[in-house]
Amino acid sequence: MAMQIVVRHDVQEAARYVADQIAKHLVANPATVMGLATGETMRPVYARLRHLFASGEAPSAAFTSFNLDEFIGVPTAHPGSFHAYMEDELFRHVVDPEGRCFLPDGLADDPVAAAALYETLIAKAGGIDLQLLGIGRNGHIGFNEPGAPFDGRTAAVNLSLQTCQVMQGFDGDQPDRAITMGIGTIMEARRCLLLATGEAKADAVFAMLEQAPSTACPASVLQGHPDLIIVLDRHAAGRLTDSLLKIADQS
Ligand code: GLP
Repeated sequence: MAMQIVVRHDVQEAARYVADQIAKHLVANPATVMGLATGETMRPVYARLRHLFASGEAPSAAFTSFNLDEFIGVPTAHPGSFHAYMEDELFRHVVDPEGRCFLPDGLADDPVAAAALYETLIAKAGGIDLQLLGIGRNGHIGFNEPGAPFDGRTAAVNLSLQTCQVMQGFDGDQPDRAITMGIGTIMEARRCLLLATGEAKADAVFAMLEQAPSTACPASVLQGHPDLIIVLDRHAAGRLTDSLLKIADQS
């Protein structure tokens, strides 16, 4: 298992580490194919990335990106949609994102066909070089909820009650379905970079890293990924045992 665990003191330092990793990829290969994630955890990562783009420390004009997921039936202009999130956080800060920054089409008449098309687009781009991931409190990655198959492809899925309860940006009109990259799709990324911060993620991080891989914790599949970097702040790392902490980079 080629896994690297990085523990940083706080959210800002952990997010900075992640953004700097992304920038390193972009400097080495401006045409990197990235898998992108949403969620509150990622906001400081994108803030730092915007800074690196603006200062010219990382190139933003040639990457291709595929977001992990999007809600079904939520207009792209709705502030709770992942389209709106990505537009605000990143895409309007990069040159000509049209035709190279993709999210699943949650408004398609046929979500099953839209999911299949997304797989085709990723394959046509040559697969994902660097997949950014967050983790849900129940261990979900993308919107692959507990029980999702480890070999799943991009699909239309139902969201768990817990996920709906912690969802932000909706006033009682929460969507309950999404199109998400499958766990099998995610595992094909050449490198995965997962960020988890805050005490609310400590149990999910424990299950992901310290327990045997099981569909009960979708993120635990990552233990089998050949090139994985897990970045945590000290709160999200709070339940890790000494045997894992002693191999972690805690500088
Ligand atoms: C979401 C996304 C995930 C994300 C997770 C955690 O809704 N589908 O990709 O990692 O939930 O979100 P947050 O960072 O807000 O805790």
